[in-house]
Amino acid sequence: MSTFYNTLAAWWPLISPVEDYAEEVEFFLPLLAEATARPAPTLLELGSGGGNNAFHLKRAFHHVTLTDLSDAMLEVSRQLNPDCDHHAGDMRSLRLGQTFDVVFIHDAIDYMTTLDDLRAALTTAAVHCRPGGLLLIVPDHVRDNFDPDTEHGGVDVEGRSIRYLEWTYDPDSSDSTCVTDYVFIVREGDAPPAVYHEQHVFGLFTVDEWLAALTEAGFQPESILDPYDRYVFIGRKPG
Ligand SMILES: C[S@@+](CC[C@H](N)C(=O)[O-])C[C@H]1O[C@@H](n2cnc3c(N)ncnc32)[C@H](O)[C@@H]1O
Repeated sequence: MSTFYNTLAAWWPLISPVEDYAEEVEFFLPLLAEATARPAPTLLELGSGGGNNAFHLKRAFHHVTLTDLSDAMLEVSRQLNPDCDHHAGDMRSLRLGQTFDVVFIHDAIDYMTTLDDLRAALTTAAVHCRPGGLLLIVPDHVRDNFDPDTEHGGVDVEGRSIRYLEWTYDPDSSDSTCVTDYVFIVREGDAPPAVYHEQHVFGLFTVDEWLAALTEAGFQPESILDPYDRYVFIGRKPG
């Protein structure tokens, strides 16, 4: 069980403030214009975490359904997005029995570490995407332009403070994964700081592998570079 998405879930709004997501959503929304222009458009997000993207995306949709593996992260999202439906589920196997105009997967797709996992998640997306609908996927990294990276952040709110270091590197360039080491330092009131370390393994696939997997799942795929040099994948499900 992940420390980040369970023990530390309640800290998510201080680790990754919702306002930091507004700019990228302004880039995503025009990509979805043909779907959001339909009457009463619907959105499904797989791996929606604390619901930060959804908070900015939801204004373009009539109804939004958010799903995640972690109940604790869903609870954080419920506070932020009480107007959305929330369901627990693994994106590799979730079956809600309904279809949506748009299926969205943000950085949670990084947890697909093998091509089989990736294919399973794309099958879930295809099953829930209505004919003529769109899939939008935004992995943090692809093999083609992978660069080791270090980030830090965290904020203070009413006697609660957190800082983190996030160090991403690729120990073995011959496999389909990279790793991120996270270190969190948490302070509450006058209590001594608590320190957590956790290593996450992320999938690292080539753009060609992405496009082939999307085609295999039944989408007409396209890739574009976003303003942050991330490859963004759009899949159109034939109508
Ligand atoms: C970085 S958070 C996502 C944050 C989200 N982009 C937001 O807007 O708040 C990554 C999420 O992926 C979820 N996750 C990891 N593996 C998953 C899986 N197999 N199925 C569904 N969710 C998964 C984790 O529980 C975590 O909440």
